[in-house]
Amino acid sequence: TRDILIAPSILAADFARLGEEVAAIDAAGADWIHCDVMDGHFVPNISFGADVISSIRPLTRKVFDVHLMIAPVDRYLDAFAKAGADVITVHAEAGPHLDRSLQAIRALGKKAGVSLCPSTPESAIEHVLDRLDLVLVMTVNPGFGGQSFLASQLPKIARLRAMIGERKIRIEVDGGVTRDNAAALAAAGADTLVAGSAVFRGESSADYAGNISAIRMAAQG
Ligand code: DX5
Ligand code: ZN
Repeated sequence: TRDILIAPSILAADFARLGEEVAAIDAAGADWIHCDVMDGHFVPNISFGADVISSIRPLTRKVFDVHLMIAPVDRYLDAFAKAGADVITVHAEAGPHLDRSLQAIRALGKKAGVSLCPSTPESAIEHVLDRLDLVLVMTVNPGFGGQSFLASQLPKIARLRAMIGERKIRIEVDGGVTRDNAAALAAAGADTLVAGSAVFRGESSADYAGNISAIRMAAQG
């Protein structure tokens, strides 16, 4: 089976103790740190921006996986690169020039991702595959943590896996991921799982290591 990466979303962390929370998920075995940036325009919620990411960047050496739910996005890419993002993901629905955004991310020396909302078909990335390091499949409508998983997205994941073929593009899933749906996600072809509530408020709530490993074990079968 393929190696599964777990990316806890700090959107579900205690913001009053954000630094400690980042250190805690690092120690608990998080592979990537998923940062959800929301602008109150592309999505109906506001979270945090590049300055917050830059403040927590020194606390861990793990990959910073920055999910930009903002529009327009191009003018902010440089700020997130400077803040210490390793992977920068933009939404296919966030503007008319996805190809340009992806080129800009790679020109900044970062890995480039595209996220697809639940209603967006996989064909949205068909003509940008060569510019992609990651595709992020939303399994909730973006904007909030703690929503329930949309199983309707499983066939999309499987079709993306076939479309990607031998290319080195990760398939990440975000929204309502738990130990209960991780196996189905991995079977469909996902290799990177974002989890907010399931890590920070999981079954054994304060046991971040236990929560992360439960999702990983379920996904790896
Ligand atoms: C939703 C965000 C997700 C969210 C996941 O817009 O992109 O990363 O924080 O949280 P859970 O795992 O609670 O659905
Ligand atoms: Zn996210």
